[in-house]
Amino acid sequence: MHICTDSKDFQQQMLALRQQGKTIAFVPTMGNLHEGHLSLVKMAKAKADITVVSIFVNPLQFGPNEDFSAYPRTLSDDQSKLETLAVDYLFLPTIEGIYPRGKDLHTSVSAHDSLTNKLCGASRPGHFLGVTTIVNILFNLVQPHIAIFGKKDFQQLLVIKRMVEDLRLPIEVIGGAIVREKNGLAMSSRNGYLTALEKDQAAHLRATIIATQKQIEAGDDDYPSLIRNAKKLLKQDGFNVDYFEIVDQTTLAPADSNSKQLLIAAAAWLGQPRLIDNQEVTLQ
Ligand code: PAF
Repeated sequence: MHICTDSKDFQQQMLALRQQGKTIAFVPTMGNLHEGHLSLVKMAKAKADITVVSIFVNPLQFGPNEDFSAYPRTLSDDQSKLETLAVDYLFLPTIEGIYPRGKDLHTSVSAHDSLTNKLCGASRPGHFLGVTTIVNILFNLVQPHIAIFGKKDFQQLLVIKRMVEDLRLPIEVIGGAIVREKNGLAMSSRNGYLTALEKDQAAHLRATIIATQKQIEAGDDDYPSLIRNAKKLLKQDGFNVDYFEIVDQTTLAPADSNSKQLLIAAAAWLGQPRLIDNQEVTLQ
């Protein structure tokens, strides 16, 4: 596995590979890799000649009171996991290499508010601006044909797909299925903040989403009441709910009885971490 830290050198190497006619699949990450990330890497390997993984904890997408400094950094573990999967390139850019003028003076790229001001965007102002900006920079450095993102961050995947479409970037963006712990908890780098007891309790987030899905599939389309009920249950289970929404899968606007492609999306704090999860629901 080639390990590159210099952004310019790395971009030259990627351009050379493209000139040789190689296809490149890219998995951007912030490290602390778990089975969810590794499943995306396996998808990438099956889809292109060259697999590139980046690890960069992007300061631009963290709010002032969020966990940028505390975010788990486990480089040597991550590196051996990627070596085991025979990844071709690991890109480890520096903050200076990415934001040479400083992150606050950098050009930014934003997707339209109608997608970014809802759900996670409502409680994390500026988060998606940080994501679309870094993903653009990484796309320009990696020059991928294919880029793969996990569906746990469903809104992020949608925002990136929209950006790629609107800016006509010649990249195919693919979503990878959520990978879960045995108890149903969606894998996340932030699960490491949970105590053993909280990890058991955290399974209730998934369980509440699934119970709501079953009610919808059984024909209940009183979404405001399903939402109220789910929030009440989560509160009883010890969660501090940020949001629990039933929305249209492509616009993220609240679903109504005409909606067929739904997304149940939730974010809630349990102890220290804010957990997110979602479920796509298709109605006939
Ligand atoms: O999903 C993530 O880990 C990050 O938001 C990403 C896409 C790597 C951008 O920093």
